[in-house]
Amino acid sequence: MTEIVSARGDRSDGVSYQDLLNTDSHPVPAVLRRENPLAGGVQKVDIERYISREAHEREKERLWSRVWQMACREEDIPEVGSYTVYDIAQQSYLVVRSAPDTIQAFYNACRHRGRLLREEPGRSHDLRCPFHGWCWHLDGSLKEVPCQWDFPQVTPEEYRLPEVKVGRWGGFVFINPDPDCEPLERFLGDLSQQFAPWPLEQRFKQAHVAKILRCNWKLAQEAFMEAYHVVATHPQILAGIGDANSQYDVWGNYSRAITPNGTPSPHLNWTPTEQDMLDAMLDRNLDDPPVASLPDGMSAREFVGTTGRQAMQPIFGDGVERFSDAEMTDSFYFTLFPNFHPWGAFNRITYRFRPYGDDHRMSIMECMYLAPYPPGKRPPAVPIHWLGADDDWTEAPELGMLARVFNQDVYNLPKVQRGLEAAKKPGCVTFASYAETKLRHFHRLYDRWVDAE
Ligand code: FES
Ligand SMILES: [Fe+2]
Repeated sequence: MTEIVSARGDRSDGVSYQDLLNTDSHPVPAVLRRENPLAGGVQKVDIERYISREAHEREKERLWSRVWQMACREEDIPEVGSYTVYDIAQQSYLVVRSAPDTIQAFYNACRHRGRLLREEPGRSHDLRCPFHGWCWHLDGSLKEVPCQWDFPQVTPEEYRLPEVKVGRWGGFVFINPDPDCEPLERFLGDLSQQFAPWPLEQRFKQAHVAKILRCNWKLAQEAFMEAYHVVATHPQILAGIGDANSQYDVWGNYSRAITPNGTPSPHLNWTPTEQDMLDAMLDRNLDDPPVASLPDGMSAREFVGTTGRQAMQPIFGDGVERFSDAEMTDSFYFTLFPNFHPWGAFNRITYRFRPYGDDHRMSIMECMYLAPYPPGKRPPAVPIHWLGADDDWTEAPELGMLARVFNQDVYNLPKVQRGLEAAKKPGCVTFASYAETKLRHFHRLYDRWVDAE
């Protein structure tokens, strides 16, 4: 990776996000006032990072084997004996709730002749291998070996299921295969503070769609880490999105983008009315009849804020008044290195991107919706809904209007993979100094984890 120091401090035309917050009808939370832009100018990244088998092998050895990574939601394994499988590249881990408040993760391989212990989520009293019936307790201790007399070498002490470290944050379960890794809490830094107004542990998994993509996992996630692509990829929403007025900041191992909505794109050569902005936010074709008519004198942002607070009244009661128009309107998208993307406020989105099997030219993109619920009435988490590489996102109607937007996003991705493979070698991709802050931050960390000698 090469860094080129930019001498220019330019910014886009249009209102800054901090100035936009000053127009809010409600007080905004302090976390939205935090800023920490990434210094250091534009960057170039070697295309080999996306297309070479060697990069994938290095990631297996230096990244996936020692970084904290989100394995599942706690609610995916709600009862004692519930388990799920977390696969990353050629590795597979079995994540088990072994006691009411204990979650453990094991290498998903039988200690007899190595069969995967489980391939699907489920629930049972113990973990029995389907091949010859070796069996472990939920805590990984050996329970039973059929014909034990024939295995004098197998002792309960030596034949536990090997474990990996487990950490929990925001209702998510993280694992780390490195026995010497730093604690999850230190890796996360102050991420919990950023999510204090919207704790993700108090959400339930309302939708979970996984789609196979024909591109490297890093190309896939980078398409969701900036608003720079909106002007070319989603032109239909420009009337209601301040794409080039997004704010980008980084702290430790995570970055944050904020893209304002209900404010016009600086790319427009016309001035939308507040009604136009509202229609565009709701992803309407401007020739369609409006989906809601703005009361006189009310801005699109205040309207979305007001209707959003009303919709959440049954959940938060009068507590909804603590939420600003910004929290109801804007997009707050975080990236925790390397591949976990929880969103703040109420967009409900969390993404995860990872290689598909052991193939560096294929990936899995997952989108979860994490929705708030009335106190004491947690609905069960939905199971995962898989879409194949040739399936359309609209085959997941649970994603609502976002499915059409995702189709636009992922349309480019196999063509980016192919283009990089066809490009002149050696070669680089190049990032914007500001709008591609999150990509620059990711690749700085990637340098340190994967490429440092
Ligand atoms: S491989 Fe699991 S019991 Fe034989
Ligand atoms: Fe997009």
